[in-house]
Amino acid sequence: MKHKLKVLYSESQIQKVVKQLAKKIEKNYSVIKHPQPLVVISVLKGAFIFTADLIREINLPVQLEFVRISSYGTKKISSGKIEAPLLLLPDLSNRDILIVEDIVDSGKTIRFLREYFSAQFRPKSLKVACLLNKSARREVNIKADYIGFDVGDYFLVGYGLDNAEKFRHLPYLAIDG
Ligand code: IMP
Ligand code: MG
Repeated sequence: MKHKLKVLYSESQIQKVVKQLAKKIEKNYSVIKHPQPLVVISVLKGAFIFTADLIREINLPVQLEFVRISSYGTKKISSGKIEAPLLLLPDLSNRDILIVEDIVDSGKTIRFLREYFSAQFRPKSLKVACLLNKSARREVNIKADYIGFDVGDYFLVGYGLDNAEKFRHLPYLAIDG
């Protein structure tokens, strides 16, 4: 199948927004003196580039963890099912947790992770940072605490996001039409 990609956000537009988000996060978490580092839980695979850029702009002690989750399979429409999550984590009880996600679409992934981390760790705080927010497709009542770009109902690729495992390596975000 042929893909036509149309650039939506350039590399420099993304870097600017990621820096702004990082500064906001840094400011909010540095208000209180935290005895332990902020736990950043990156949602693989999509959030790996966003996470790498974001944490390098956050001037605070950070503990980086990963989970892997998928609800898309190889299709452009989410299956709605959370498939084979890999949730191997150390004990994060009573910690400040920030979930870092590439895009919030139906909201089901974030709802699942929020419920899971709340039940598992009773964190001191639990927030969500997403680079992209596709609110037109929201199915559950979830809102991220930190949002990079509000986007329309497009299927996006690049900067970590894929279509059937392609295009994650692109440094920009493009509409896959
Ligand atoms: P949700 O559970 O429906 O909110 O889906 C979130 C997940 O679906 C994200 O973590 C992405 O991996 C994937 N996803 C949603 N929209 C897109 C898109 O436009 N391009 C690529 N992946 C997407
Ligand atoms: Mg994802």
